[in-house]
Amino acid sequence: MAWRSVISRDYILPERVQIFDTTLRDGEQTPGVALTKNAKVEIARALDELGVDIIEAGFPTVSKGEEEAIKEITKERLNSKICVLARANKLDIDKAIECEVDWVHIFIATSDIHLKHKLKMSREEVIEKAARMVEYAKDHGLIVHFSAEDSTRTDLEYLVTVFKEVEKAGADSIDIPDTVGFAIPSAIKMIVSTVKKNVKIPIAVHCHDDMGLAVANSLAAVEAGAEIIHGTINGLGERAGNASLEEIVVALHTLYGIQTNVKLEKIYRVSRLVEKLTGVMVPKNKAIVGENAFSHESGIHVHGVISSPQTYEPIEPESVGRKRKIILGKHSGKHSVEKLAKQFGVRLSEEQIDKVLKEIKMRGDLGHKINENIFLEILKNVVDLSNVDRKAEIQEVCLHTLKDRTIALVHLNIMGEDYVLAGCGRNDIDALVNIYDECLDKISKFNISDYRIWLPPSPQMISESEITLCRKNDEEVVGRGVHNSHSIAFVQAFVNALNQLLEEGWENDRNVRC
Ligand code: KIV
Ligand code: ZN
Repeated sequence: MAWRSVISRDYILPERVQIFDTTLRDGEQTPGVALTKNAKVEIARALDELGVDIIEAGFPTVSKGEEEAIKEITKERLNSKICVLARANKLDIDKAIECEVDWVHIFIATSDIHLKHKLKMSREEVIEKAARMVEYAKDHGLIVHFSAEDSTRTDLEYLVTVFKEVEKAGADSIDIPDTVGFAIPSAIKMIVSTVKKNVKIPIAVHCHDDMGLAVANSLAAVEAGAEIIHGTINGLGERAGNASLEEIVVALHTLYGIQTNVKLEKIYRVSRLVEKLTGVMVPKNKAIVGENAFSHESGIHVHGVISSPQTYEPIEPESVGRKRKIILGKHSGKHSVEKLAKQFGVRLSEEQIDKVLKEIKMRGDLGHKINENIFLEILKNVVDLSNVDRKAEIQEVCLHTLKDRTIALVHLNIMGEDYVLAGCGRNDIDALVNIYDECLDKISKFNISDYRIWLPPSPQMISESEITLCRKNDEEVVGRGVHNSHSIAFVQAFVNALNQLLEEGWENDRNVRC
C-alpha cells in the first residue's frame, strides 16, 4: 500500500473495489478471437475461482452459440454474478431475461459523434429510450448496470443528465466507458467526480487502451470515487484492448492498499488459460503475467535480487503465482548452472559445472548476455554432449500435415528401449501434446501442467520452447528446447523434462511400451 497515505491527503479512497470482468465479452471482441462454448465455461469457472465480482459472460444477441454458452455459464451457479450485454432495446433485454442472468449491462451511445453518425437520434430520444429500457429490465427483475457508450467524448452536462435519468428509472449502477481510449487520468478524475456529485448509485469505468492509458485511467477513476472497475485478463479487447485486470488488481492491492475479492496468487494460472484458449500470446514484457516480468538478467540486478529480492522486485513473484527467473551471467552460482543444464537434459559433474561457470563469468566480464542459446553453446563446448548419458533420447521426429490435421511420429529411446509414438491433432503442437500425454501415462504419474513455444519474429532466429511436467504432490520438472524448427524445440523440451523425471527415479511402469 505504498501510496495510500500520500493519496489520502487529496482523496477519500474506498476500502474495497468491485471487479467487473469482461474477458468473455469485450475480450472476445479481440480481432480474431472466437471462443467455443466449452472454452467460455472453462474461463468463467477460472474467473469465479479467481474471485472477480461480476463476469460479463457475453452478448446473447450475437449468435445462437453465444446464447447457449451464456446459459451453460448461468447453470454453473458460480459465486460471481453473471452479467450480459444488451443494447437499449427489448429484443436484447429479453435475451438477457431468457439467459437467467443476475445482471444486464444496457448500453446506448451518448456522444454527439455516435448520435449523428450511428444512432441518428436526438439527445432527448436517447435519454427517453435509455430510461424506458432500464425500467423494462427492472420490471423483469434484473440488476441493471447502465453504460453511456463513448462517455469520454460526450458533453459532460448531457452525460450527467443521462445518468440522473437512468438512476431515476431504477438503474443499480452506471458505467463510464472510455470507448476509444480517449481519456487521460486527470480527465477521468474530473468526469467521475462530476458524475459522483450528481448520482448516488455506484459508478464504474470501462477503459480502452488505444493510447496505452487504460490502467492509469481506471486507477484515476478509483481515486475519484469509482467503485466498480471493468477489465479483461491479459488486457484483451477491441483494438488495443481493455484495461488489464491483473495490472489493475495488483496496483490496487499493492500501491493503493485497496482490497478486491481477487485471489492474486491465481492470476497467472488464469492468464495462461486465457492465453491458451484465445490463442492471443501475452508479450514477454507484459507486466505481472509476461514471461520476463520476474526475470533478472543484468549483473547489478541479479546481484541485488540475490542479496534481497526487494531491491529489484516490487512484489514477490509467488504472490501472483509466478517464480523468479535468474538469467545466467557473471553473478551466477553453481546451482543455477546445474539447474539450467538439467532443463536441457544434461547432468553435469562438479568439474563440468566449474568449467561452464568459468566460461559464463568470462563472457559476462566481456559484457555478453547468456541467453538459453548461448548457454547451450557453452555446454556443448565444455561437455561432449554425444557422450552424455541420457536416459531418454530423440531418435527421429516426423510430422505430416494434412488439410485439417497433423500426424506426428516420434521415435524415442527411453532407458534403452525403443518407443515409437504416433499422434494426431489439429496442428503439430496438438499432435505432439497428444503423444506426450500418452507417453507420460505409460511411464509415470506426471502430467503436462504448462508449456510455451516462442516463435521467432524472423526466420534467421530460433524458436524456444519450455514444458513443465508435474505430479500431484508438487514435484515438478521443467524442460527446455531451442531449435530452428519450433516443433523440434518442443520435442527437445519434452525429452529434456523426461530425462529429469527419469534421473530422479520418478518413473513407474517403465516396462509398458508406448
Ligand atoms: O467500450 C465500450 O464502450 C463498450 C460498451 C459496450 C460498454 O464496450
Ligand atoms: Zn469496450
